[in-house]
Amino acid sequence: LYTASALAAPTLRVGSETTFPPFEFVDVKTKQFVGYEIDLINAVGKKAGYNISVQSMGFDAIIPALMTGTVDVGVSGMTITPERKKKVDFTVPVFKGGLVAVVRQKDAAAYKTPAAIKGKQVCAQLGTTGQLKAEEISGKKARTFNNAAEAMMELRNGGCDAVVADKPVIEYFLKESRQSRYFHELPTQLTTEDWGFAVKKGNKKVLNALNSALVSLQKDGTVAKIHKKWFNN
Ligand code: ARG
Repeated sequence: LYTASALAAPTLRVGSETTFPPFEFVDVKTKQFVGYEIDLINAVGKKAGYNISVQSMGFDAIIPALMTGTVDVGVSGMTITPERKKKVDFTVPVFKGGLVAVVRQKDAAAYKTPAAIKGKQVCAQLGTTGQLKAEEISGKKARTFNNAAEAMMELRNGGCDAVVADKPVIEYFLKESRQSRYFHELPTQLTTEDWGFAVKKGNKKVLNALNSALVSLQKDGTVAKIHKKWFNN
């Protein structure tokens, strides 16, 4: 592990909200950060000649940390949006995501389409595209949580009528927590979104290194392999 080249390599400080399975989360047994994006940024670091050091932070703290230079890269299922592009630069897309709405299973009949969410109380993760979409379709301020799982618990407990969050994260939660019987995912996907790794605006050196590594890992099949590992397709 501690080869001469690894020791000599510069370190990329990665900021991540690490309760976002299967993209970045803590493995209960090993206590290590694991997930699709953790594998991807580690492969990118190896390819580009950087050591990777992941630190956990709130999702809404990542862009400020990039702007002040506390971290070098944001790896956090972060959707590339025009608003965020004013503050940070993004790599080429690393994943195609999108939002869905979830309601309680017992209320499913009342939510044939997302339009039924108008006027309802929605829960979402703070600072996410899910929060923005929740407020757009409900016409009300969302109640916000530190992660999607907490928002789902609040939905189950009756503290809100719906959750809007990232489809792959919701589906992983429903499967892994074995709570799918309590929830109903609305069949209409609300958005499709490109996710990227983020760097400080103007940090061409790191951005170019990440992008060329990502492109070659896409070409040599590494990205497909990591996708297969986490999504089995
Ligand atoms: N894709 C959504 C966004 O960009 C949610 C990302 C949340 N990521 C996380 N690691 N908690 O707003």
